[in-house]
Amino acid sequence: MEAKLKQMLYGGDYNPEQWPGEIWQKDMELFDKAGINSATINVFSWARIQPSEEVYDFRELDEIVDMLTREGKQIVLATSTAALPAWMVKRYPEVTRTDYEGRRHKFGQRHNACPNSPVYRHFITEIAGKLAERYGDRENVVCWHVNNEYGGECYCENCEKAFRVWLRKKYKTIEALNRAWNLAFWGHTIYDWDEIVLPNALSEGIGEEGTAFAGISIDYRRFNSDSLLENFKLEKAAIRRYDKKTPVTTNLMGTFKGLDYFKWAKEMDIISWDNYPSYDTPWSMTAMRHDLMRGLKDEPFMLMEQTPSQQNWQPYNSLKKPGQMRAQSYQTIAHGADTIQFFQLRRSVGGCEKFHGAVIEHAGSDQTRVFREVARLGAELKEIGSTVIGSRNEARVGIIFDWDNYWALEYTSGPNQDLRYVDQIWQYYDYFYNQNIAVDMIPVDGDFGKYDLIVAPVLYMMKEGMKEAVEEFVSAGGTFVTGFMSGIVDQSDNVYLGGYPGPLRKLAGIWAEEIDALAPEQSNKVVFKDGMKEQCRLLCDIIHLEGAEEIAQYESDFYAGTPAVTKNCFGKGCVYYVGTVLNADGLSKVLDMVCEEAGIAAVIEEETELEVTRRSTETEYIYFAMNFKDQEVVLPSVFAGKTDLLTGRKMEEGEKLLKYDVRAVISPR
Ligand code: GLA
Ligand code: ZN
Repeated sequence: MEAKLKQMLYGGDYNPEQWPGEIWQKDMELFDKAGINSATINVFSWARIQPSEEVYDFRELDEIVDMLTREGKQIVLATSTAALPAWMVKRYPEVTRTDYEGRRHKFGQRHNACPNSPVYRHFITEIAGKLAERYGDRENVVCWHVNNEYGGECYCENCEKAFRVWLRKKYKTIEALNRAWNLAFWGHTIYDWDEIVLPNALSEGIGEEGTAFAGISIDYRRFNSDSLLENFKLEKAAIRRYDKKTPVTTNLMGTFKGLDYFKWAKEMDIISWDNYPSYDTPWSMTAMRHDLMRGLKDEPFMLMEQTPSQQNWQPYNSLKKPGQMRAQSYQTIAHGADTIQFFQLRRSVGGCEKFHGAVIEHAGSDQTRVFREVARLGAELKEIGSTVIGSRNEARVGIIFDWDNYWALEYTSGPNQDLRYVDQIWQYYDYFYNQNIAVDMIPVDGDFGKYDLIVAPVLYMMKEGMKEAVEEFVSAGGTFVTGFMSGIVDQSDNVYLGGYPGPLRKLAGIWAEEIDALAPEQSNKVVFKDGMKEQCRLLCDIIHLEGAEEIAQYESDFYAGTPAVTKNCFGKGCVYYVGTVLNADGLSKVLDMVCEEAGIAAVIEEETELEVTRRSTETEYIYFAMNFKDQEVVLPSVFAGKTDLLTGRKMEEGEKLLKYDVRAVISPR
């Protein structure tokens, strides 16, 4: 596959407009020393390049673009529309958002525009077009960065009207809408489209996160995601009027809840995302987010932002330890990134991000630990970039991730408030991560046929066509893993009648009659056939076998001795049903069985505590071995005698990797 960028970008957000000219030249020198080959500019410069409704002023941006061009840098050009200019809010107050509590906001902050404001839509189209007209044919403008980290909601009257239009298109008739939202409940029946109101704290909202009508709130989330996507599409179309070919992206945020990224991905030319793990984020969680971002288009992606050192917006902004940024960057590349970009290249002097790390710190020097680490990585990427760029990640295991399910599951009132979508998916991902088994994160309408094993935890909402797709996959010999809180509701959050897990009942060969909820201080155990006992918590399905065999049963409570985990043969394949939240050992035991049955292998045979992740070209494999453990780990023997791509050194049998050490190895397929 042809890479979408000609070169592995190494750079990041750069805001010279916040600095006097003398600093710019110093920056250029430091960029060269650090091996920085690109800069993302104009992310928040709207007020600079359009000082009033009638006036555009590109002089400063011209200078920045010219300087970077002279210096041989690639440019990721942002459209600047993520922070409203003050003049626009003054003249057109409708461009700001109305929040969940119903308060219309004043000028301030960023990511602050009402996505359905015709005025805002007009201005973003104008500015994006002007930028493309002016800079679109520059050789070194290699990517368009539209807006920034789209997200948030608006509950203004414009949005309310737009919601009604969106719903009318979806449901056609009031009767269909009443049915979909089950409005007979609590006497909510409506008779006219203008009786629909947005679900916020003033209407159906229960607290910050809850709702009396999940059907309405899920539709609002879909609508809001679509509204913001419409903004992206408008800017992209404006760019395309002048620039037909440069890839257009916007920076996403991993498992961010607000937007249906699979839907967004269809409109984006290349995926980019911002990776900000906190000090205690498990490395497997970060790996999962990378795989999800790669999975959006099933293609390499851009790492648009990471901090070289510290963040400012987390409660505890620990430094990245020596070597950590490098290891994090290689993990990113190993999971499919074709760029490593930082927020930010120079640390700002004021504003709430002045404590946010940067390549160039307040000392302004190349004599910092952070700078040296950035420069080392820069030199390495210069060497290996062209080998890695465009290579693919291959997997036989797919884990389903779905934003409708994310929303729906977390809107449920009961059975257990501690159930979190991402956490449930991650528990399964973590098993594969620890085994060094490659995983693709896939959508509900993915190409299941590509996989031997599909894992679908908390597949709470099953939309039209899903049942048939799973049946086809399993009948043909696939292995499917699902469990509690699956097959419960349709696309409108109405329950499939006839017993849980609804459309999966026949496939799983079970009926789950009741769902028990366990408080944090409560737990149960499951007992496997060989007598092994493991803890379970949170939820316990009470299951009747209808053709499935029991893998494990509950140890205590009134459902002691009844099945907790089951397996059912269906066509040429089989379905595992995990009826409770198992501890890691319990889940491993089940998934060991599953992998053996499905013939799933790790990327290297040898067991190791290292993360080993592989990218592939048509003829070669590129292995990345990384130590994220607190202790030294021995290099797997398959790599001994080979050359470490990063240092050119021949590796020895038995050599040890310290924490955050990385090796990269290339070998024929
Ligand atoms: C986000 C934004 C950046 C910056 C960083 C700080 O990712 O896109 O503008 O605020 O966070 O971590
Ligand atoms: Zn609005």
